[in-house]
Amino acid sequence: MCGIVGYIGHREAQPVLLNCLGRLEYRGYDSCGIAIPGNGIEVYKDAVRVAQLEKSVPQNGANIGIGHTRWATHGKPSQINAHPHTDCDGRIAVVHNGVVYNFQRLKDQLVAEGHTFRSETDTEVIPHLIEKYYRGDLEEAVKRSLLEINGSYAIVVLDQGSHRLVAARKESPLIIGIGDREWFIASDVPAILDYTDRVIYLEDGDVAVVTPEEERITNDGKEVAREEHLIPWSIDEAEKSGYEHFLIKEIHEQPKAIQNTLRGYLSAVEPAIELGVDIDADDILIQACGTSYHAGLVGKYIIEELAGVPVRVEIASEFNYDHTVLGKTMVIGITQSGESADTLLGLKKAKRLGNKTMVITNVLGSSATRITDQVFYIRAGPEISVAATKSFTAQLVALYLIALSAAKIEFKGRASLVEELRKLPVKVQRILDEEDKIARLGKYLAGFDNAFFVARGINFPVALEGALKLKEISYIHAEGYPAGELKHGPFALLTPHTPVIAIAAKDDTYEAVLTNIKEIKARESPVIAVAEESDDEIEKYVDFVIKVPGVEPIFSPVVNSVALQLLAYYAARERGCPIDMPRNLAKSVTVE
Ligand code: G6P
Repeated sequence: MCGIVGYIGHREAQPVLLNCLGRLEYRGYDSCGIAIPGNGIEVYKDAVRVAQLEKSVPQNGANIGIGHTRWATHGKPSQINAHPHTDCDGRIAVVHNGVVYNFQRLKDQLVAEGHTFRSETDTEVIPHLIEKYYRGDLEEAVKRSLLEINGSYAIVVLDQGSHRLVAARKESPLIIGIGDREWFIASDVPAILDYTDRVIYLEDGDVAVVTPEEERITNDGKEVAREEHLIPWSIDEAEKSGYEHFLIKEIHEQPKAIQNTLRGYLSAVEPAIELGVDIDADDILIQACGTSYHAGLVGKYIIEELAGVPVRVEIASEFNYDHTVLGKTMVIGITQSGESADTLLGLKKAKRLGNKTMVITNVLGSSATRITDQVFYIRAGPEISVAATKSFTAQLVALYLIALSAAKIEFKGRASLVEELRKLPVKVQRILDEEDKIARLGKYLAGFDNAFFVARGINFPVALEGALKLKEISYIHAEGYPAGELKHGPFALLTPHTPVIAIAAKDDTYEAVLTNIKEIKARESPVIAVAEESDDEIEKYVDFVIKVPGVEPIFSPVVNSVALQLLAYYAARERGCPIDMPRNLAKSVTVE
């Protein structure tokens, strides 16, 4: 995700800014840049790593400056779109995290007033607004400009001449680090921990002016005092925001990730969905790898049920041997990274055959987005841990949105489904709040070498994903199976040492799954059920129950998969596995 840094003090700013940016690299980024005063404001930026940027930045003795690592949201990763952005005259430079929702209207207005824009970003309207309102006082110009902005922001502004930084935040984090006659501004604590552990957290609506003598913060025109905190973490701990692993951090980020996916496409008040993509096809073929393939399998149920369009799902590496794709079929690739070689090959094949193509991805400007006719961004934020978690639930949300918008006839209940979608972040948070109970079961599971995951219907792919998560990160051999299929072979493996995790969703599969559970128990396997919190029946038949909040049956894959992610995480943690980087695996597999 984007990262912000700013420095003012007695050191040379350039190496400090680059070091701070380097400390934010773990968050993922596609371009970076810094601005320092020199001959005008000098901006050095490009779609490169921080180490490469460093080579192009001269030491100029300035002891004030700002910097940014960008993870593209508006406009592809490029030199022009990288931050900092400047006004027309290059006298004001801005770094920004967040989204300016009304940027197009502001941009049109500013262009009509004679401003020239260079980038495709929403951010660029900010330096131009500040330029418009600048009457010799940077702070006033920033405050006036922020009144025009509808959206979220953390910004730091540098101008030519006033030797001060102005910072402001709304719904996007920003801190001020206090050193000895020097100040550091950053979006995240790890950026500044090499220099100081004394930190002020800005609050929504705060505008801070930082000079070589002091920091002064106002909110709604009044001066405010913000408490200073001492950061007790090491850099390594801080990058993970206090979590032990990126994986558990990313599991915990799911309410926000889902919110972000929804926010991009659902209007705030109406059940209207504006996707910018369109499924206009007689049938669909989804192809993907790994966890994204499992999202595709859930997608088949979602799209067929809500949109009534037939869907086939293929593992991307097998799709290349498939000779039955019809010209009218729409081919959708699902890929978190947008770089999985097999998924890219599948999309290229579809293009070659003349099929319509779409990609559902998390990474702006990734290779898949350049191949396909249509792109749907899930906006889950960067995923660092090799095993996918938040990208999976965000992919599911993308598929709900696509299916709901593709439904040709206005069906009864669409509005209530949209309302339920909006509640998903809260429901997921409730599972995270009950994490301790699942952690205990994870520790119990850690004592076994084999496990089965079973379910029926829309949760069958969730069983596959639960098994994949467990095997990837804990090295426990696990298989996902349709609950009704276990008796056709795998029963031979059931013993008291083979636990079975059974998803018992309250839908039309429930009774059949309950019957399967009884069959499994008769073979003496321990059973952990994942069931709705209102389900009092299930406890009679199983050894342990993981309770999840009740949701419309079609949304149950979201809550059930979060529970299974936690189960796998705590099993792996108990076994002391290298959770974020399992042996032999890669986050992005760019070979066939
Ligand atoms: C690798 C990762 C998996 C991921 C798969 C597909 O195997 O380890 O976590 O699900 O690639 O990646 P994609 O970026 O295409 O979703």
